[in-house]
Amino acid sequence: MTTYDVLSRLNHWILAVLIVAMLGFGFYLAYGGVPVPEKLSMIATHKAVGVVVMVLAVWRIGYRLVQGFALPVGTMPPWQARASHLSHVVLLVSLALMPISGLIMGMFSGIPTDVFGIVTIPAFERVDAISAAARMAHKYIAYLFAATLAVHIAAALKHHLIDKDSTLIRMVRG
Ligand code: HEM
Ligand code: HEM
Repeated sequence: MTTYDVLSRLNHWILAVLIVAMLGFGFYLAYGGVPVPEKLSMIATHKAVGVVVMVLAVWRIGYRLVQGFALPVGTMPPWQARASHLSHVVLLVSLALMPISGLIMGMFSGIPTDVFGIVTIPAFERVDAISAAARMAHKYIAYLFAATLAVHIAAALKHHLIDKDSTLIRMVRG
C-alpha cells in the first residue's frame, strides 16, 4: 500500500481534531483551577466525547491491523521510516489506552457515563484503589500521547515544508 484510502484519511482527521481537543480539555480540567460545579459538568462532556473517540479508535485500529500502514515515501532514510512506524504504533496504542483507562476510572468512581443521552455506560460499586490507578495511567499515557503527537506534527510539517515530499499531501488527498 502506497497511500491511505478515503476512510483512513477521514478517520485520521476527525480523530486529529478530537484528540487535540480532548488532550487540551483534559489538561485544562486537571490544572486549570476550574471550580467544582463547572468541573463536574465539564468532566461529563469529556467522558461522553471520550466514548465517541473509543468507537472511532476501534474502527481505526481494526482497519490498520487488516490493511497495515502505507509504505514510507521513497525519499526517506531507513532510520526515519523506523522512527515514523514506531511513533504511529505509539499513537495508536495511546489512542486505545486513553479511553480504556478513562472508562475504568469512571466506572470504579461509581459515576455512570452518559453519552449524549444515547447510551449510558453503568458504573460499578466505587473502588478507590482501582479508580486511582486508572487515573494515574490516564495521566501518564496522556503525557506520552501529547509528546509523541508534538513530534508527529513537527515531522509532518518538516516533510511538507523542508523535504517538500508527499507525506502530508497523501494524508490529505490520498
Ligand atoms: C482519547 C480520549 C481521551 C483523552 C485524550 C483524554 C485526556 C485526558 C487528560 C489529558 C486528562 C488530564 C490528566 C491529568 O493530567 O491529570 C484527563 C482527565 C480525565 N479524564 Fe480523560 N481523556 C480521554 C478519554 C476519557 C474517557 C473515555 C473518560 C471516562 C469515561 C475520561 C475521564 C477522565 C476523568 C474523570 C479525568 C479526571 C479529571 C480530573 O478529575 O481532574 N477520559 N483526560
Ligand atoms: C493534528 C495534526 C496532525 C497532523 C498534521 C498529522 C499528519 C499526519 C500525516 C502527514 C500522516 C501520514 C504519514 C505517512 O504518510 O507516513 C499521518 C499519519 C498518522 N497519524 Fe497523524 N497527524 C495529526 C494528528 C494525529 C493525531 C491526533 C493522531 C492520534 C491518533 C495521529 C495518528 C496518526 C497515525 C497512527 C498515522 C499512521 C496512519 C494511520 O493510522 O492513519 N495523527 N499523520
